Amino acid sequence: MNTTPTDPVADPVADPVAEPVAEPPAAPRSRALSSADRKLVLDVYLDGHASVVGRLVHTGTETTFAYDAAYAAARPRAPLSLSLPVGNHVYGPREALPYFENLMPEGRRLNAVALQLGLDRRDVMSILEHVGRDCAGAVSIVPGGEQPSKTPGEFPGDYEEIAPADLLKQMETGIAETRPKGKGHPFSLAGVQGKAAVLMGSDGRFYQPTGGAPSTHVVKLPDAGHAGMIENEAFCLELARVMGLDAVEPKVVTLPGDRPAIVVPRFDREVERHHHGDVEPSAEDGADFALPSADGISGPATVRRLHQEDFAQALGYTSDRKYTKYGGPSFEQLLVLDKVDAVARYRLSLLDALIFNILIGNADAHAKNYSLLHGRDFRTRLAPLYDLLSIALYPDFHQGMALTLGAEDGKIEQEFDELDRAALERAGVRLKMRASLIEGRMRSAASKILPAAHRLREEKGYGVTALKVISAIGVQVRLLNEKFGFDVKVNEIEFQPKGGGWLTPS
Ligand SMILES: Nc1ncnc2c1ncn2[C@@H]1O[C@H](COP(=O)(O)OP(=O)(O)OP(=O)(O)O)[C@@H](O)[C@H]1O
Ligand SMILES: [Mg+2]
Repeated sequence: MNTTPTDPVADPVADPVAEPVAEPPAAPRSRALSSADRKLVLDVYLDGHASVVGRLVHTGTETTFAYDAAYAAARPRAPLSLSLPVGNHVYGPREALPYFENLMPEGRRLNAVALQLGLDRRDVMSILEHVGRDCAGAVSIVPGGEQPSKTPGEFPGDYEEIAPADLLKQMETGIAETRPKGKGHPFSLAGVQGKAAVLMGSDGRFYQPTGGAPSTHVVKLPDAGHAGMIENEAFCLELARVMGLDAVEPKVVTLPGDRPAIVVPRFDREVERHHHGDVEPSAEDGADFALPSADGISGPATVRRLHQEDFAQALGYTSDRKYTKYGGPSFEQLLVLDKVDAVARYRLSLLDALIFNILIGNADAHAKNYSLLHGRDFRTRLAPLYDLLSIALYPDFHQGMALTLGAEDGKIEQEFDELDRAALERAGVRLKMRASLIEGRMRSAASKILPAAHRLREEKGYGVTALKVISAIGVQVRLLNEKFGFDVKVNEIEFQPKGGGWLTPS
């Protein structure tokens, strides 16, 4: 059965294989899905599926999401989100809001986009109507009945060069997301840092997709007033990689006015080269398809989207609840997800990511800073790590666990120094996992990280900020020594307890 934009509701009885609907997620704070006092229909497309997969419908009083009946009947098919299982069910705002709201920019970037478009920042549907063509994952959201985005994207034909000065200006003013249709590239990515979704060529130039073609790289600007944030993030991402974690490969670039920026390849994009020799072969898909290279794309190449969602989306929390202390999930809730491929490996990778974040003093590893990839093979796995940085360098930020692990029942805030054997025991009981296994992985990572960080800094010529990160790691390693009786050696240079400070080497 096909549905029309005004009748997105498929008959639940008509589909004998309709899947059970997940438990409705906890109620978000009261907030309308759309404040638009008008009827609005948005078509939702997933790259790789030619026809519409579902529709968001705002009737003026109510907002719903439903999968298209043909998509619900297709086999196999990927869900938009683990919180929105595919079936012939009409999701009301309480269920649908978290996934869609979490696609939007956040904080001052959302304010700038809303201002630019003359919309209420809470008007999720109207904002996505304008910026939803290139979102996180394989999803494109377009006004009802409009053609889906240009997909796949052909480089160079579907991309046009943008001068670095213009890119910088767009990111600084927050209008990068809202470029008018046909001119430039409206996109939507979460996060509060100034950013743009682009294609970086192997010639180091930036290109904007046209017609909603997929971007391949994310460019991020540092937070004003927090010097060194770019070096901090680049160093931490590279450190994660040398520690054996799957993290995106950063590249630091200098934009006009000596402005540093970080460029990372998108793990939710896939590049098919038409000539060999310039992209990394993908371990999973054979030599012809690969994730975009950190060194940029050389044409001619075809770009496709892969689907991803963050854990706020997967668990059904709106973005204002991405920290446990603001009503978000605990880390255990991420670990117990079982609709993933190779659960045991998934859990260990996620646990190792948390341990790494503790070791670098990253108090900002919230539910939107870990994601899941829904592969073309219809398997769900932990996405590569991104947005890794030592928040310990910025004393004006809250320090502590963004997502609690083993917190006492009812306790929603946890400082790093509250992570002790009792906490691991509580987590172990909840996870049906031995606490000694978690402790063992902590000990192993703690004993490797300082030598790895020094080596990396020397080999890659990192500067003062990397030394500050190493000091912050020293503080964390000492804390774990104290709490768990590890005896990892920490030198004076690596240990400066007051605010992640830095001692000169001489
Ligand atoms: N390399 C990547 N590949 C695919 N998606 C990415 C990548 N990097 C970031 N994203 C998406 O963009 C979102 C924002 O990115 P990121 O977390 O780096 O930004 P941020 O502004 O620093 O975030 P925060 O608000 O947590 O500080 C992520 O939550 C993720 O959905
Ligand atoms: Mg982030």
